[in-house]
Amino acid sequence: MRAPTPIAVGSRLRHFAYAIRNVVAEAKKVEESGRPVTYLNIGDPVAFGFRTPPHLVDAVERAMRDGANGYTPAAGIWKIREAVAAAYAAAGMPIAPDRVILTSGTSEGIELALSVLVDTGDEVLVPVPTYPFYTAMLAKLGARSVTYRTDPDNAWMPDLDHIESLIGPATRAIVIIDPNNPTGAVYSTETRRALVELAETHGIVILADEVYADLAYDEPVPPIGALDPDAPVISFSSISKTYQAPGWRAGWLGVSGGGRLDAVLSAINELADGRLCSTGPMQFAIMAALTGNDDHKATFVHALRERAEVTTRRLNGIEGISCVPPRAAFYAMPKVELPPGRTDEDYVVGLLRATGLLCVYGSGFGTAPGDGFFRIVFLAAPPELEAIYDTIAAFTERFRARG
Ligand SMILES: Cc1ncc(COP(=O)(O)O)c(C=O)c1O
Repeated sequence: MRAPTPIAVGSRLRHFAYAIRNVVAEAKKVEESGRPVTYLNIGDPVAFGFRTPPHLVDAVERAMRDGANGYTPAAGIWKIREAVAAAYAAAGMPIAPDRVILTSGTSEGIELALSVLVDTGDEVLVPVPTYPFYTAMLAKLGARSVTYRTDPDNAWMPDLDHIESLIGPATRAIVIIDPNNPTGAVYSTETRRALVELAETHGIVILADEVYADLAYDEPVPPIGALDPDAPVISFSSISKTYQAPGWRAGWLGVSGGGRLDAVLSAINELADGRLCSTGPMQFAIMAALTGNDDHKATFVHALRERAEVTTRRLNGIEGISCVPPRAAFYAMPKVELPPGRTDEDYVVGLLRATGLLCVYGSGFGTAPGDGFFRIVFLAAPPELEAIYDTIAAFTERFRARG
């Protein structure tokens, strides 16, 4: 019998890489060898015992029981779009509800916006390190990610001169992730203003990833669109992180910037029509999140600050590791001084195989393999974190001594 010919994969995915999940394949091998793995690679509060607020669960359950199980309008249920618009207005970015689209998480909003904005060969400015969905999606669309530096010696702020030097005729948009994954940075108002000015001057769209806005330890970060209602901004967010419901895939985007983005908004609506709607019952959770009791937020932010402090203190106490203190969310991006010739991936895979701790190597977020950055998710309880950092300290000493 002839062996069946393997079915070929379309070439568009050749450059689609998402390291946060890719490292899991290696972790599975480690598990098969009998060593349990602690997954510190993915930012899911639920996986670490945080619970979705009960009033969100009630809202979804009620919606399902009340029969809200059909398709919704493609852009989402009107009154829930109104609630999102009201939340933007309350945070200083007044937009009409018809400029809000409910999406399957922040991710789908990003995909919709990039898909309508870029042509093959167009350029989008993306920070390094970056949340890798942006570079992966741009690769799928045949567009170019042009990476701009964010500086660990300056609290991971974007390098504005570098950004300006990268803007050219093919530049369509700039991705701004504030607060930031993977660095935990919160940008200064001065920096945010300068970014808005750059976008205004050069006529490029700001793609504002604001999914961690309410998880800054000092105070919530207002939408960047609040700085200037005329700036061309598309803001993305969801209930995945702040409301601890990442599996529900419930998010939204908001389009600011007056009339300048009208054609873009229409195109996003057209594309959204094609995917019918985001998850219907979960839209009711967005309503509950934005209009209901949000006491859990203060508790969550307090828990995150405590974990960030343990993380910064312990990592900076390890010989050969330095870590910029995170100011939001639940990620840190420490740097390990690597022996000559070794890479961040050698370190992360070595740590995984030797200890079962799974982090993500910095090059998965765009940093140079030799720079030795890696990302850790610090959602575990403080005593467990202490044990994790003991393990990292012991491994790092061995790794660096071995060369
Ligand atoms: C910066 C950033 N944007 C978007 C997402 C995806 O979020 P969502 O679950 O809302 O699609 C994440 C998830 O980790 C993220 O860190």
